[in-house]
Amino acid sequence: MRVSPLILSLPGLVSAQTGKSVWKKRLTGADLDTFQRWSVAGTDLGIPYVLENGAIGFLFGDTFNTQWPEEPNNDWRAPVMLRSAINPGDANGIVFDSAAGVGGNGNAPEIMHNGHRGDDGFGTYEISVIPNDGIGFPETGDQIVSYMSIKDWTAPWATNYAGLAISTDGNTFTRLDVKWPNDDANSDPFQMWTMQRDGDWVYIFSVRSGRQQGPMMLQRAPWDQMVNQSAYQGWGWDGNNWGWGRPCTPILQGNFGEPSVRKLSDGTWGMSYLNLDTKNIVTRTAAGPDQAWSDETVQVYWNQEPFLYGGFIHPWSTANASELYLMVSKWAHDPTTGASTAYHVSQYVGSL
Ligand SMILES: *[C@@H]1O[C@H](CO)[C@@H](O)[C@H](O)[C@H]1NC(C)=O
Ligand SMILES: *[C@@H]1O[C@H](CO)[C@@H](O)[C@H](O)[C@H]1NC(C)=O
Repeated sequence: MRVSPLILSLPGLVSAQTGKSVWKKRLTGADLDTFQRWSVAGTDLGIPYVLENGAIGFLFGDTFNTQWPEEPNNDWRAPVMLRSAINPGDANGIVFDSAAGVGGNGNAPEIMHNGHRGDDGFGTYEISVIPNDGIGFPETGDQIVSYMSIKDWTAPWATNYAGLAISTDGNTFTRLDVKWPNDDANSDPFQMWTMQRDGDWVYIFSVRSGRQQGPMMLQRAPWDQMVNQSAYQGWGWDGNNWGWGRPCTPILQGNFGEPSVRKLSDGTWGMSYLNLDTKNIVTRTAAGPDQAWSDETVQVYWNQEPFLYGGFIHPWSTANASELYLMVSKWAHDPTTGASTAYHVSQYVGSL
């Protein structure tokens, strides 16, 4: 077969790199059922976690009934949750079947209080409330969502604090007065969380807000003590060895976007994040939360999905080939006018 010289001469195509993940489908948009059914058009994140009943909840950030955030009458909501019990490995990929908290108008509402450039409910000004992860507890039927209260979207954007919200019905969440405050330098490393339960413990990996250079920290808490800050134990190095119940020592250093950690069915722990140095979504693996993490594997190169972020690991991913399912966001702008040209979440499929 002859290779077209036209193709070879096109810059960008020749040098285009493909990570281990490939685009499967776009999951949100004004042209999709997410808008027709729940008024979810422009949105991002789609953080997938196991609900108390075993299905999957997807947590979205700033959500609009318009294609782009900047349009008028956009019905701004955050966080919003859609649900699915479809295996993401099915031929059609992820299909949502319901939304949390749907009322008479059929729209997916925000699932907890959001100050929307106003009071967070505790006397602090916040711009918005952005989810970081969720966890369901089959024993109690409760769910907990970790979120960040946004203080300032100016890069590197800053949080007021990381907080927890609890739900007993899976539809509405109450923000608790349990918070991990940021510092004035926007350098607190406990602002963007990902949570994974293993047995009696929930393991919490966290980084600074704003996608900055800095450490990644590891803590753990008993699953039924997550709202008790005294019960959290840091994973730290005392000069001789690593142990729990100490001040946290960085487990990794990097230029981290929002981290996503999931324990997969074969026992492999997978971690994903946007590496802001290379602008690629990468994964690492470990034999346990407190074990050494592998080097980075590129899943999605920037050129595959320009202006990408997220890369949240679907909990039903496996360590098998082509069974890693990532939720990848994209928010792109026209370089001249600044207007949005894309604001949505896509499913990618790859291999750890
Ligand atoms: C909170 O955790 C601490 C430390 O484990 C424990 O001593 C205390 O009893 C816990 N509080 C509650 C209300 O469970
Ligand atoms: C994928 O991995 C799981 C364990 O994680 C295993 O049970 C299953 O058989 C694997 N599937 C294939 C097609 O290899």
